[in-house]
Amino acid sequence: MAHDSHGRTIDYLRISVTDRCNLRCVYCMPPEGVEWKSWEDILTFEEIERFASIAVKHGIGKIRLTGGEPLVRKGLVDHVRRLKAITGLESIALTTNAILLPKYAEQLRDAGLSRVNISLDSLDADVYEKMTRGGRLQDALDGLDAALAVGFKPVKLNVVVVRSLEQDLAAFAKLANERPIHVRFIEYMPVGEAVAVGARGHQGAWTEADHMPADEIIEGLDRALAAQGLGPLEAVHKGDGPEGWGPARYFTLPGAVGTVGVISPLSRHFCGECNRLRLTADGRVRPCLFSDTEFDARNVLREGTDQEVSEVILAALAGKPEAPEQRRGTTRRMSQIGG
Ligand code: 5AD
Ligand code: SF4
Repeated sequence: MAHDSHGRTIDYLRISVTDRCNLRCVYCMPPEGVEWKSWEDILTFEEIERFASIAVKHGIGKIRLTGGEPLVRKGLVDHVRRLKAITGLESIALTTNAILLPKYAEQLRDAGLSRVNISLDSLDADVYEKMTRGGRLQDALDGLDAALAVGFKPVKLNVVVVRSLEQDLAAFAKLANERPIHVRFIEYMPVGEAVAVGARGHQGAWTEADHMPADEIIEGLDRALAAQGLGPLEAVHKGDGPEGWGPARYFTLPGAVGTVGVISPLSRHFCGECNRLRLTADGRVRPCLFSDTEFDARNVLREGTDQEVSEVILAALAGKPEAPEQRRGTTRRMSQIGG
């Protein structure tokens, strides 16, 4: 088991396999798009696999592939298969916007992928199109269906809540009523593009006004459900909720097959339970989402020994802050860090 210098067990690695994406979510990318990293800057799958196998020796048991959108990178299914073959790695998960899941869900399952999280911010086609700048809701819903149909379990839905976008959160609770999905409402964080642009476009950066604290999300949801004759939401005790590696709190509607939950990086931070390292698409190890401190693994992956790669991992573990001084900022985009 790997521990950081604050006694936390670090067993989870998030890997951004690409900064590219087939959507342009308003809080993640500017309208004109971003300049993608060049291929030489991005780790090859081989380099990622080497990093992963060394990280597993240091106690990493769980890997999540993120992006950008991981499924836009060609060869991802085979990458999953090779990662799965690493001795000591318990499971591999994927965070995706689901657009390409109809094409890949079955192959991914067969390659050994354990689970998927789907980023889907609205169940209203117009709002979805606006939030993703042109995405089609039906494509994402088809992806969700594909994930359920091939038997991924649990399937979690990530919903970033931005106050001024007035998403209908009750619609998600109703979806979780009928289908075995776990919806997680995520507080909108001042990270990456959100800081530079903000969800409402170039009118300004992330604002406190757009951040809805988790307690308010749940209270508002309860009220909206009550107005429709549903509820009240009941808290799900830890252990009874969906299997997971993260800090969500879950609730359920009586009789529902799924759950709804909240992730509150800002209003109730959970640095004390932090269990992760991140590897960016260009090969930097990031000990903390909210800190720009990074450790370069790319050079040693290209020119160094396994021992040198180990040293980068150990330095990153030692460099994990107990809690960042401030939970905002970062010069990196979320599409480079991988959420
Ligand atoms: N605040 C909260 N979540 C965000 N994501 C991207 N940017 C932000 C932000 N500023 C989410 C994506 C995806 C996950 C990887 O991170 O929607 O679900
Ligand atoms: Fe793509 Fe995810 Fe960013 Fe949306 S939030 S643009 S789906 S990487």
